[in-house]
Amino acid sequence: MSSHPLPWSGAAADVAELLRQRTGLVFGEARRTALEAGLGRAMRRIRVTDPAVYLARLAAEPPLLDDLVGEITVGETYFFRDPQQFAVIRDDVVPDLLSRWARDRPLRAWSAGCATGEEPYTLAIVLREQGLAGAAHIVATDLSRTALAQARRALYTRWSLRGVSDDVVQTYFERVGDRFALAAAVRDAVEFRYLNLAEDTYPSLATGIWGMDLILCRNVLIYFDGETVARVARRLMDSLRDDGWLLLGGSDPPLAGLVPSDVVLTGAGLAYRRPGRGAIRPRATDVVAATFPLPPFAEPLATKRPAPSPVPPPRGEPRREPVRGERESLVQEQQALDDAADATRCYAERDYERAAELARRLVQRDGSDPALWVVLVRALANRGELEAAGRACAAALDRHRTATELVYLHALLLSEAGRHAEAAAAARRALYLDRWLVVAHLALGAAFARLGEVDGACRAFRNAKRLLTGMPPGEIVPASDGQAAGRLAEMARVQLQLLGEAAA
Ligand SMILES: C[S@@+](CC[C@H](N)C(=O)[O-])C[C@H]1O[C@@H](n2cnc3c(N)ncnc32)[C@H](O)[C@@H]1O
Repeated sequence: MSSHPLPWSGAAADVAELLRQRTGLVFGEARRTALEAGLGRAMRRIRVTDPAVYLARLAAEPPLLDDLVGEITVGETYFFRDPQQFAVIRDDVVPDLLSRWARDRPLRAWSAGCATGEEPYTLAIVLREQGLAGAAHIVATDLSRTALAQARRALYTRWSLRGVSDDVVQTYFERVGDRFALAAAVRDAVEFRYLNLAEDTYPSLATGIWGMDLILCRNVLIYFDGETVARVARRLMDSLRDDGWLLLGGSDPPLAGLVPSDVVLTGAGLAYRRPGRGAIRPRATDVVAATFPLPPFAEPLATKRPAPSPVPPPRGEPRREPVRGERESLVQEQQALDDAADATRCYAERDYERAAELARRLVQRDGSDPALWVVLVRALANRGELEAAGRACAAALDRHRTATELVYLHALLLSEAGRHAEAAAAARRALYLDRWLVVAHLALGAAFARLGEVDGACRAFRNAKRLLTGMPPGEIVPASDGQAAGRLAEMARVQLQLLGEAAA
């Protein structure tokens, strides 16, 4: 089974190999005892004694795998862990972000491998102390459902607060018996999501991971093999905006040489930045005619008529050589077809800058193909150009009011701009147009969850889950940026669990 022979054999070795393949986690001899102990606990929990039976179930039931990962990797985490790094965030990173922030969108931060939530909540406190409460959208992800559920509960023991001053404890926590409950304002500043870093589900609008200003991925890469570190590093970098920051833990492997990045020496070690290539700015002649980025759907922009399409020659007419003007237009048409194929290819290769450039050129010439607008909007959003994406989406909807994928993207962009009620309305509209559009159910669920409308959120996630479990797990879900049904079903299931639905 193993392409990387392990230093031991038997059930633990088989489990270790499965873990490596699915999650990128590696267990050398030094960590064998930890793996065996975690394995024992995980098997006892589901009352399985035969390792072969456990292995078979582990391969077939993703929640068991997540549970095992939780057993063997969720260890150390606490509030203000590595305080120097949070000082760097406060003194260097945030001022840098603010210097380039036009206040036209929320700042976006991601805690990747957030465990039980101490790290993203610390970030929320730091940003709050800098007067940025409500100005940032913090997404926190992990593979362990148990850890995510605990994170969402935001109830901690004194041990989790060992790095925290009394002042901070008094300001942000309330004592409940022998626990400490985090203030609701900080708790609600973080959105928890399920995400396996070893899978290719990011960056993507569908998973909510894209265009980040800051990523914390601390003490996670240390568990991965070299190949997975390189893949994950690439994806983390792709999930940043230009000039965005990536901070790792002190013991994590260095990334220089693995991914193109600017390496910065900070007071707390190395930080990585996505090299800036100059933001794509709308020009006066641009397609983006809106005066503000995301007009409500009910107020479309003045309609511009699409340019008339060339009339094809009637069938059976004798061929004749094109005259000069016609030849030029044929050349232009061929060029447009090539550019459209290139834009789609660049998007698939995550070269969002080039994809946006090409798609913009094409829709400026002829905006009659909604698919090209979709590439433009998605590419801009993935680069973190929320305002430009919003404008392009508004202009696209102005021409294609019933293009379902554009309506759905509008919902996502409104959500990211913190306009959750309008996002829910746009997601609903996408569902009026196509009630099978799974990603719109997911967007509706996310918008309701952010509005605190738990019943509506559960209903939407249940609908998504029902549709997704009716599809073959490997099938790519329409309008999802290439996500497989099985993965999205897993995400919907975890969202339901986080919302406290027992029968997820
Ligand atoms: C030691 S904790 C780090 C917590 C926090 N970042 C910190 O530094 O305090 C490692 C976390 O990584 C998560 N993890 C491990 N492999 C993962 C994967 N493939 N995808 C997502 N999370 C993963 C574990 O579930 C665990 O919660």
